[in-house]
Amino acid sequence: MAESRRHATVIGWGTYAPEHVVTNADLAATLDTSDEWIRSRTGIERRHVAAGEATAAMAIEAARAALRVADADPYQIGLVLVATMTPDYPSPSTACLVQHALGAAHAGAVDLNAGCSGFCYALALANAAILSGEHDMVLVIGADTMSSIVDKEDRATAVLFGDGAGALLLGATNGPAGVLATWLGADGSGAEMLIVPAGGSALPASAETVARRQHYLTMDGNQVFRFAVRMLPRAVEQVLGRVNLPLSEVDWIIPHQANRRIIEAAAQKLEIPSERFYLNLQEYGNTSAASIPLAIGDAVADGSLLPGQHVVLVGFGAGLTWGAVLLRWGTGLGTGRTTAYRYLWRWLLYRWAAVQTLGRRLAARVRGWRLRRPRPDDPSGGGQRH
Ligand code: ACO
Repeated sequence: MAESRRHATVIGWGTYAPEHVVTNADLAATLDTSDEWIRSRTGIERRHVAAGEATAAMAIEAARAALRVADADPYQIGLVLVATMTPDYPSPSTACLVQHALGAAHAGAVDLNAGCSGFCYALALANAAILSGEHDMVLVIGADTMSSIVDKEDRATAVLFGDGAGALLLGATNGPAGVLATWLGADGSGAEMLIVPAGGSALPASAETVARRQHYLTMDGNQVFRFAVRMLPRAVEQVLGRVNLPLSEVDWIIPHQANRRIIEAAAQKLEIPSERFYLNLQEYGNTSAASIPLAIGDAVADGSLLPGQHVVLVGFGAGLTWGAVLLRWGTGLGTGRTTAYRYLWRWLLYRWAAVQTLGRRLAARVRGWRLRRPRPDDPSGGGQRH
């Protein structure tokens, strides 16, 4: 592996999970389920659930934490990628809301939806954007408010999911650390295995679709389970094969945090101990695109993930999709120290973004009021003007 070529290196990371925690016992109080069933079938013990926060709000918190770690200037970000299947709105993109709130005035911004594989997809695209020379700094976020699409009355899905966000800031370096290989795949024949049937152009929202609860996620759990057990080891082998790195040289596999039994089955297939997989699903449940960056944040915080280590990130989910990224973990350009000047600059940018939003909202209100106000020369006495 050449060390001197241009790399996309992680220079900052950040996570956010809502404060409100729902335990298995809380769910068992309203659903026909039990703590024992959820723990033994999935490994999940609790999940964090957004209370009034939408996806962009969580993504912004995670992104600001990543900028803090890197001590980076938001003006230097060239691209903001948000992987999510639960955007704040069908339009505009969540990425645009994030870009504005960060004061990333020179960045393009776009969402991508690859279900629970979304973070690996976004990371692979960010890596390509940096390797091509198109951008020097790319912000990659995985964020999902799964509680907004999970049917609280459906025990088959309600117990599995949680909310959260995680971000990695990638910078171009010529150093040894960075993204070493990526591998993405999809099989749309499995589209209906994990689907939110209504609310899109195929079945637009109507009173009927709401009454039929078609805006909620439906999942063929058994089929998805089998697919995950098949694809997870294959994705790991494929991404390592790209650079001929033996599995024995990999320090950590950080998988999409869906189900402990999927991880154990994958570890068995790969013939490695399941301890080589980093798991935090007991705390957050399945947070879709957020689960891998949330696990990275925890692995760094508890001292598991160390500079120089090889880590494979591997995701699988709706689409069906899968993806893997091989990273050599490193702090890249970051010194780990925050300079007072940059701290203040970011603080000003964030406040200025909030003021701008407020200003635009007030201006829109005033325009609306002026359009509706009765005019003395209007025989109809006012009303909407076109
Ligand atoms: N509490 C109690 N019983 C339950 C619950 C529950 N929450 N949910 C289902 N059951 C019952 C079922 O009704 C069934 O009862 P029956 O035998 O009387 O019919 C029994 O438990 C077994 O159900 P299964 O569906 O076979 O349970 P399984 O062991 O397969 O576990 C699970 C279900 C946890 C959903 C598993 O299939 C799974 O993890 N699938 C993969 C999910 C996944 O990885 N998703 C990732 C992508 S997500 C994304 O992209 C958004």
